[in-house]
Amino acid sequence: MDLPFAESWKIKMIEPIRKSARSEREQWLKEAHYNVFHLKAEQVYIDLITDSGTGAMSDRQWASMMIGDESYAGATSFFKMKETINKITGFKYVLPTHQGRAAENVLFSCIVKEGDYVPGNSHFDTTKGHIESRKAFAVDCTIDEARDTQLELPFKGNVDIQKLEKVLIEHNAKIPFIIVTITNNTAGGQPVSMQNLREVNQLAKKYNKPVLFDSARFAENAYFIKVREKGYADKTIKEICREMFTYADGMTMSAKKDAIVNMGGFIATNIEDWYEQSKVKGIAFEGYITYGGMNGRDMNALATGLDENTEFENLETRIKQIEYLAARLDEFQIPYQRPAGGHAIFVDAPKVLTHVPKEEFPAQTLTVEVYLEAGIRGCEIGYLLADRDPLTRENRFEGNDFLRLAIPRRTYTNNHMDVIAVALKNVFDRRNSITRGMAIEWEAELMRHFTVKLKRL
Ligand code: F0G
Repeated sequence: MDLPFAESWKIKMIEPIRKSARSEREQWLKEAHYNVFHLKAEQVYIDLITDSGTGAMSDRQWASMMIGDESYAGATSFFKMKETINKITGFKYVLPTHQGRAAENVLFSCIVKEGDYVPGNSHFDTTKGHIESRKAFAVDCTIDEARDTQLELPFKGNVDIQKLEKVLIEHNAKIPFIIVTITNNTAGGQPVSMQNLREVNQLAKKYNKPVLFDSARFAENAYFIKVREKGYADKTIKEICREMFTYADGMTMSAKKDAIVNMGGFIATNIEDWYEQSKVKGIAFEGYITYGGMNGRDMNALATGLDENTEFENLETRIKQIEYLAARLDEFQIPYQRPAGGHAIFVDAPKVLTHVPKEEFPAQTLTVEVYLEAGIRGCEIGYLLADRDPLTRENRFEGNDFLRLAIPRRTYTNNHMDVIAVALKNVFDRRNSITRGMAIEWEAELMRHFTVKLKRL
């Protein structure tokens, strides 16, 4: 008999978590204005609000923290981190920042101007925010198939090459770069194929535009290329990463995901001009160029984490856990973005809460229901997160409306996955009794989902 699959690590340290009563959760949620970002973490039993900065570091990462160099300038920790990034990505210039959006802020301050167009595949909300706040336009060129949650495609995060070329022709002079998000978070943690990265690169060359990777989950993307794309089964994850990055001129990185640190990020590039300009902004916003908002010890943990998480076993353990949860949801016939992505399950809320109109935010309603059911905190990646159109100020209902259940790396067990699946099943079973959703009481102009105040209808 074949041995079953199991984790490639064992647990050395644990952190207690607390269950609560439904009556307590009702009160807490009311106080939080029905926005789970306003809950206290101690009011949450299983926290799936994000996989960002919430993973468990390894013993090697903790050990490397003890030998961090806290020198202001020229710390050995910086050079160790830079060398690791050079090796994995092939990019020469490395500028640390305190997290991913800070990397976007620094770089985009230099290269995004008013009236610009930045085409890409489902820009993440902070990325979109950093483009739109500069009065530029984020143009989504994701393949249409990504919208159909029930369609099974191996690389549903891909860029539609024809859409991209159309934008390149229409707005040529106004395009500072093309951005490709790997994996494509907003479309469901869906990977982008090597073939697609290659085609984007060829098109970019034709129109003489640089390519930037938003790389938060690049290692998970490499895992999917290895297991799904022809010709890569025998390559190591590190070899695949090296090839992926040959199709880009630079990257912004939120190290809180695939480098498995609690805080950290960087810009890496081969474009000297991007680096030189970013250095100036980096010093102003983040800190000196050899720490950029990070402690020396954190740069050590980042370097070790990147090295570990570009190894197959670690990624396999992670992605098999997402697949495990997906299989439990299949048992209960709960609709989610198929196939399951790399870091999360994206429940297709309008297909669950069929009586809640889009104007009442089905995914946010489902987020609230799942929290009330079992103290599980997911996150709306849908109509609230989409913000309003900057020109018309109308809500944007064109995209998907997901409840995202993001699974932190190396943090929860499959028993927790079972609790999540059954909590969802219980809500699913009473879906026909949920007929009303949520209304906005107050919202910010940009990135409103973090701070929005809602009421139940
Ligand atoms: N790009 C992508 C694709 C992301 O998913 C995120 C963060 C960022 C950039 C920004 O990085 O948080 O370090 O500033 N995503 C988190 C999430 C917050 O929950 O998906 P950051």
